[in-house]
Amino acid sequence: MEGNILIVDDNDIIVKSCESILTPEGFVITGSTDSSEAIELIRNNDYDIVVTDINMPGIDGYELIRQVNAIKPSTGIVVITGFASQQNIRDILQLGIIDYMSKPFSPHILIETITKAMYLVKKIKAIAAGPDSETEAKRKTDALNAIINEYKTTPGALLRVLESAQDLIGYLPPSVQRFIAVGLRIPVSEVYSVVSFYPYFTMKARGRHHIKVCVGNACHAKKAGQILTRLKRNLNFNEDRLTADGRFSYETIRCLGACGFAPIVEIDYDTHGGVDPDKTLDLLKDYH
Ligand code: FES
Repeated sequence: MEGNILIVDDNDIIVKSCESILTPEGFVITGSTDSSEAIELIRNNDYDIVVTDINMPGIDGYELIRQVNAIKPSTGIVVITGFASQQNIRDILQLGIIDYMSKPFSPHILIETITKAMYLVKKIKAIAAGPDSETEAKRKTDALNAIINEYKTTPGALLRVLESAQDLIGYLPPSVQRFIAVGLRIPVSEVYSVVSFYPYFTMKARGRHHIKVCVGNACHAKKAGQILTRLKRNLNFNEDRLTADGRFSYETIRCLGACGFAPIVEIDYDTHGGVDPDKTLDLLKDYH
């Protein structure tokens, strides 16, 4: 994965180690052992991620994060902590970071954390550049804040918030996951883990009608592949599997447990069995 990363730590060994581990992974790394210099670098360059220590002489990590949020708010932040107390961690999470790593960390943890953070940052940037109007975005933000405030002190708050947020927005893109993480004071990576674990949650926008094509063994044997090909060829889905007019989205699934009726296509809550691939498009006529 590609991306520009600034590593800030007053310990030169940490900076050089991160650089030597992450460079072969395809990341472009800039290192700084001086947080004042780092702020200038952030001002004059576009980093996807800033990885910063918290305890540093002069400008500490907390202040550095505040500065990053003010100067380049779309930059993802990953924190390196030494001996962080629970209170320290709560304070850090409140600043809206993507993730944190406790020292000492292994090369494997570093690569995994940064790769995941880079994925989230790139998605957040792509969605921020999307077409949502300012008024609509504000309405959704206010509603999402209300949801977070309603549940944040209750047990299992994360699942409840995610469920309500998906009802509100239709899906859970990384920008929404980040918003929820800040509101609940948990790492974005924790929200991401839950969203990616439960099939009920989706990170991709859905059309007004969502098509599920079963590609399990029985359906595959009954030409589910041809159904899929016809849908793709005629509906011109984008890379998020959504049509340009937002009418349809699709996903493939593995066995709906109705193999006797293969091949199966689900549209919204309707199940269509024994679908003839040649009549695939006829199925869509009643969904506007
Ligand atoms: S394989 Fe499609 S329903 Fe079982």
